[in-house]
Amino acid sequence: MTSLVLAVVFLALYLIVWSICLLGLRTARNRYAGYTLPSRLISQPPKAVPGVTIIRPLCGLEDNLYNALESTMKLDYPKYQVIFALQSGTDEALPDGHQPVIPSLSDTADDAADDVKVGVNPKINNLMKPFEEAQYDLLYVIDSSMHLDPDALGRAVDAFIESKFGTTTFDSDIESAPPISDDLRTPPSRGQVGLVHHVPFALVYQRTWGSLIEQAFLNTTHAKMYLAINALAIDSCVMGKANLYSRANIASLTSPAPTLRASLNPPTGLAGFGPFLAEDNMIALSLWHELGLKHAMTSDVAVDFLGALSVRGYIDRRVRWIRVRKRMTPYLVTALEPFTESVLCGIYGSWAIARLLGANKSALFAVHMILWLMVDLGVRRALSTHVKGRPPESTLVFVLAWMARELMTLPIFLYGLASSDVTWRGKRYRIVQSGQ
Ligand SMILES: *[C@@H]1O[C@H](CO)[C@@H](O)[C@H](O)[C@H]1NC(C)=O
Ligand SMILES: *[C@@H]1O[C@H](CO)[C@@H](O)[C@H](O)[C@H]1NC(C)=O
Repeated sequence: MTSLVLAVVFLALYLIVWSICLLGLRTARNRYAGYTLPSRLISQPPKAVPGVTIIRPLCGLEDNLYNALESTMKLDYPKYQVIFALQSGTDEALPDGHQPVIPSLSDTADDAADDVKVGVNPKINNLMKPFEEAQYDLLYVIDSSMHLDPDALGRAVDAFIESKFGTTTFDSDIESAPPISDDLRTPPSRGQVGLVHHVPFALVYQRTWGSLIEQAFLNTTHAKMYLAINALAIDSCVMGKANLYSRANIASLTSPAPTLRASLNPPTGLAGFGPFLAEDNMIALSLWHELGLKHAMTSDVAVDFLGALSVRGYIDRRVRWIRVRKRMTPYLVTALEPFTESVLCGIYGSWAIARLLGANKSALFAVHMILWLMVDLGVRRALSTHVKGRPPESTLVFVLAWMARELMTLPIFLYGLASSDVTWRGKRYRIVQSGQ
C-alpha cells in the first residue's frame, strides 16, 4: 500500500518535472531559434528614445575582457552612455596594469575608481558611484565577462517599455508621436515590466574538461530551467549577467537584509544590498515583491566567455552557487532541486512507472535518459542559433561533458549542503540566512 502511494506521488512529480523541461525547450525554440527583428528604436532620432546608461563593473582581468567591453561600445542604439566602474585605481583592467585593456579611457579611469564601501559585496561597492553619476534613469548593468549583440540594447529597451506604451507606439510617424523619452521620466509601476534580463549562455576559447562541463550545464539544464521558470512567472528568477532597470525604482527599494532593517537609519536603494553576495538576484526579487514589477526577456542571450576551468574549478563553482542559493530559497525548494535532475528523476520515475504498470525498470530508465538528452540537445541548438564566434563543440564532446555533469550533480549537491563557507575572488565568506 505504502509503495503504491509513493509510486503515485513519484509519478506525479515525474510528470511535473517533464512538463517543466518541455516548457523550457518550447520557450527556447520559440524565442531564440527563429529570426528576430532589430528594435525599431534604433532608427529613431536620439531625442525620441529613452537614454540608457550602461554600467560595466570591472574586477581585474577576465578572459576576453577586451572583446566583452568592446561589444558595449558597438551597440546599435541612438542614445547611450557607458561607465566602466573599476574596483580600485590599481585594477588590472587599467592601462597602467599589466595589459592595457581599456586603452582610451585613461582620463576617466581615476574618476571611476572609488572607495565607497557599503557591505561585503565588492560589486555593490563598485556600483555606488556609477549609480549616482549615471546620466539616464535606465541602467543596463552588464558583468565584465558578458558579450552583447549590437541589437541587444534596442530589444531590451523595447521589452522594458512595452508594458507601458505597447509595441505599436513606434509604428506611427515620429513627428506625430510624442518622444518616448519624456514619458519615461516616471519609472514603471506595479504590474508593468521593471526589469529586463537575458538567459546566460557560455562560450569557451580554451577547451578544458572543467569548462566544457560548465558549458554543457549552462547550455542545457541551466538555460532550460531559467526559461521555464521565467515563462511560468511564479517568482523572480534572475541572474544579473546583464540587467536593465530604472534607477528610480532601485532607489526606492528598502533593504531586504534584516540586520540593516533593524538599524536606526536603514539604507535605501542599492546600498541596502551591500551584504548580499548574490545581489543581482536579491535586487530582482525586491523589484518583484516590493514594487510588484514584472520581468521580461528578449531573444538575446547573455554570452559569457568562460575561461579555462579545471574539473576541480567547476566543482568549486557549483558548490559556491549551491551554498549561496540554499540560504536564499526556502528549504523545500532546495530539497526538491535534485529531484529535477536527470539521473534521480529517471530513477524514481522509472521505479514509479514499473511499480504501477509492471514495465522493465532498466529499459524505462534508458529511454528516459535518451529523451532527456534529446531535449537538452534541442535547447542547446535553439540557443546557439544566433551566437557568433566559435562553432559549437562536436556532439560527441558535448555528450561526454553532458554525461559527466549529469553524473556529478548529486554528489556535488550533497557536498554543497555540507557546509556554508564559500571562497569568492580569493576571499572567504560565511553565508548566513537570506543570502547575506
Ligand atoms: C529488463 O531488460 C533488460 C534488457 O533490456 C534485461 O537484461 C533485464 O533482465 C530486464 N529486467 C527485468 C526485470 O525483466
Ligand atoms: C555551448 O554553446 C556555445 C554557443 O553555441 C558553443 O560555442 C559551445 O561549444 C557549447 N558548449 C558545449 C559543451 O556544447
